[in-house]
Amino acid sequence: MSTYNTPKWWKESVIYQIYPSSFQAHPGAKNEQGVGWGTVKGITSRLDYLKSLGVDIVWTSPIYKSPQADMGYDIADYKDIDPIYGSVADVDELIAECKKRDMRLMMDLVVNHTSNMHQWFLDSRSSKSNPKRDWYIWKDPKSRNEAGTPEPPNNWAQILGEANSAWTYDTETGQYYLSVFTPDQPDLNWENPEVREAVWDVMSFWLDKGVAGFRMDVINMISKVPTYPEAPIVLDPATHKYQPGTQFFVNGPKMHDYMHEMYEKVLSKYDTITVGEMPGVDSEDEILRTVGANAKELNMIFIFALVDIDKPNVRMALKDWDVKELKSIVSRWQNVMIERDGWNSVFIENHDNPRSVSRYTDDSDEWRDKGAKLLSLMQTTLGGTIFVYQGEEIGIKNAPMEWDPREYKDIETINYWNKCQTIYKDDPEKLKLGRKIIQMKARDHARTPMQWSSAPNAGFCDADTKPWMRIMDDWKTVNAEAQVKYEGDELSTWQFWQRGLKDRKEHADVFVYGGFEEVNKDDENVFGYVRTSKEGEKWLVVLNFSGKEQKWMIPTKEVEFWACSNYTKGRADKAKSGELVLKPWEGALGKVSG
Ligand code: NOJ
Repeated sequence: MSTYNTPKWWKESVIYQIYPSSFQAHPGAKNEQGVGWGTVKGITSRLDYLKSLGVDIVWTSPIYKSPQADMGYDIADYKDIDPIYGSVADVDELIAECKKRDMRLMMDLVVNHTSNMHQWFLDSRSSKSNPKRDWYIWKDPKSRNEAGTPEPPNNWAQILGEANSAWTYDTETGQYYLSVFTPDQPDLNWENPEVREAVWDVMSFWLDKGVAGFRMDVINMISKVPTYPEAPIVLDPATHKYQPGTQFFVNGPKMHDYMHEMYEKVLSKYDTITVGEMPGVDSEDEILRTVGANAKELNMIFIFALVDIDKPNVRMALKDWDVKELKSIVSRWQNVMIERDGWNSVFIENHDNPRSVSRYTDDSDEWRDKGAKLLSLMQTTLGGTIFVYQGEEIGIKNAPMEWDPREYKDIETINYWNKCQTIYKDDPEKLKLGRKIIQMKARDHARTPMQWSSAPNAGFCDADTKPWMRIMDDWKTVNAEAQVKYEGDELSTWQFWQRGLKDRKEHADVFVYGGFEEVNKDDENVFGYVRTSKEGEKWLVVLNFSGKEQKWMIPTKEVEFWACSNYTKGRADKAKSGELVLKPWEGALGKVSG
């Protein structure tokens, strides 16, 4: 008996992801270098804004103590807060203020690796006989050349810089440690039961404080194939000595054992929300082992098929895609979870991806607002738990081509641009392509400071403080304050999101829990689907993913009324049966007659 449409708070919750450095600095806040940096107190000050948007759960990317080599995804102390963000007391206050508003806080759990400045790692690297040595993955060099220079144990490439090895040599003890993201992020050795106990302890610490649950960073990378085989050659070996080794550590041999243990030891004792970040897995069987209703692992995961639609073999590269592919990815995972009693997360942005309005629609001044609303309509009408990413609700777009690469602060972009400048130094065309890839794919696009108002620094930090990262140049016109207050013939992007989230809650039986049927599948531009509640209430969603007018045959019974379109404020006056004309990037939602 499927439990897919059994109501649960974590299924219906609206989650908003905060990228803490870029969300809101409280008055007077600056980091050590005197630059404006978001803070926990800043987050607390914006809870009313989030509440009015329709948010239930605030998930913040890591705010723990960290050298910030990878913006907090390199943790030096799991039980402390980095002073640039505030203190544990500030988090206690945030939890309490959330509670007052019937909201909750979700933390990021980053336990595939720590920072190389975590005391566990400092102990581990201090000597081969240190009791913490085996908490990380140490290996002898594969070989040494005649000059004695060591070679890494295998050819795996670093994920946030594929020109480099995933192994880092430590001269003190003459061994390499595994660091699949960057040398500053040594991988923990989950084979060691003491490591697992330490992770359970961290989780309980935060759950006991009242956090709602966790987003678990690359949690499907915790088990590695123990023979550490050579990776197949997929990147040009003339320019790439190292190759992606992901197949040997994504959903590795013991991952499910560890996830079950996590469930038994921690999660089963609390009423939590859990979402696993699981890149690189496509097998339905494998995913259901984690998110199936009886899996005893996690509530849901992030499936990356949609955000990887333009990814060939590494993220900083481009691949062509079309609307049919987008439709089939979305429909596939909607159907799989319904048929197999799993659960979806619904998202199209996060801190590791460019802005959706630039990626899937047209972010020019003429169409940006329509595109952002089109994506909002799609997401607010899909089954699963919905995640909104900071700034998505006002349609922030990618930074423009004119921005110098030095404006980009992310380690992945920096490594990528260094690689381009080294290997393509005599090839201006490839260098130009590199710049284009940065403009289209860099993670930085999601990390520009939040555009709150037309006040100096967009209201992100004090007027006399330089923000840590350049704010998008359009903040005077594109900002939350203007969009919240907007009065016109149609809704602002923010108001459209607010409307969509409210509608989703009011009709949770349809949009959160309902059946899903794609219609007119062969259409090359328009994505159409019908959502149906258990009681038989039906809604038709029609999304024109093109900049041209489209004619589309309504395949259902007559539409009773068009509840909204991204071109109108309220109900839309559109054909109720037969041929429907959709304007460029138009999306509409219709109630189908019973
Ligand atoms: C995934 C995170 O989302 C990303 O930002 C980070 O760089 C890696 N995991 C490493 O923690």
